[in-house]
Amino acid sequence: MKEKIRALREKTETAMRETETGRALYELKTRFQAELKSIMSGMKDLPKEERPAFGKLINEFKEDMEAQFEARAAVVRQKEMEAKYAAEQIDVTMPGRQYRPGALHPITLVKNQLIDIFSGMGFKVFEGPEIETDYYNFTALNTPKDHPARDMQDTFYLAENLLLRTQTSAGQIRVMEEEKPPIKILSPGRVFRSDDDATHSPMFHQMEGLVVDRGITLCDLQGMLAEFARRMFDASTKVRLRPSYFPFTEPSVEVDLSCSECGGKGCRLCKGTGWIEVLGAGMVNRRVLENCGVDPDEYTGFAFGMGIERIAMLKYGINNIRALFENDVRFLEQFR
Ligand code: PHE
Repeated sequence: MKEKIRALREKTETAMRETETGRALYELKTRFQAELKSIMSGMKDLPKEERPAFGKLINEFKEDMEAQFEARAAVVRQKEMEAKYAAEQIDVTMPGRQYRPGALHPITLVKNQLIDIFSGMGFKVFEGPEIETDYYNFTALNTPKDHPARDMQDTFYLAENLLLRTQTSAGQIRVMEEEKPPIKILSPGRVFRSDDDATHSPMFHQMEGLVVDRGITLCDLQGMLAEFARRMFDASTKVRLRPSYFPFTEPSVEVDLSCSECGGKGCRLCKGTGWIEVLGAGMVNRRVLENCGVDPDEYTGFAFGMGIERIAMLKYGINNIRALFENDVRFLEQFR
């Protein structure tokens, strides 16, 4: 018996000195207790008179070992803390990690600003589909097949009557079919034309505006655009309407803003004219209202459509439209 206790003590004390973690110590203690229990169970085989002395011995052993376990636990805890602190130490002299926050794309910036300006005037946003039928993109907009105005917009056809919309004006029809006047919508989105040079891209963005109500006139259009120009550029920006032609508006106008570069004196940007063309607009053609079941004798309206890229290029002084689509971060970072 005594021999067994001595062996267990020696074995346990040696192992204990090597424990480095609370977990290892706990496992050792569990093993020790099991073995101690098995020694104690041998007590019943001892002669009766030897039992008290043995009981005393085993109790002392147990208490001593428990004290040792406790002492070792304190040491191990300290060791673990030290290891943890060493691993988590912060070197305040190390250079910081660089964060490179993203930025909104200039097209998104201008689009959001347009929505902001016009929603302040009571416009609601409507988004139409990018794949359109020939009817919504052309025919309902008073541009039937073989109409020469179709040549103004070189179209990507997907099928006989299905195409990539060439203009957000298609949204005008969708809205007027769904809603009764008064109507006041803004329709942003991608449009597509087979066109590619320094100022044209086969995919670009437009922002359409449509107002239909009783007594709407060209003056309302002009006033609204003047407010838009002041807020998008600056308070001194002037608006000029020039006669033009679109099948879906009558009369139609081309809208120019006074050149932001030279203030109207004439420079390279405005090609010496002092004016820069920014959008097409006009009074909604009676035929278009009729096509949508709106009585043209009761209601009138105006519509306008502008290229978002064009506004962004003017606002930020970008001279090649490709810069907007190449996604060169050195370019995009400037809009942070
Ligand atoms: N949809 C025309 C274009 O893309 C612009 C426009 C919109 C003209 C609304 C008049 C009215 O060129």
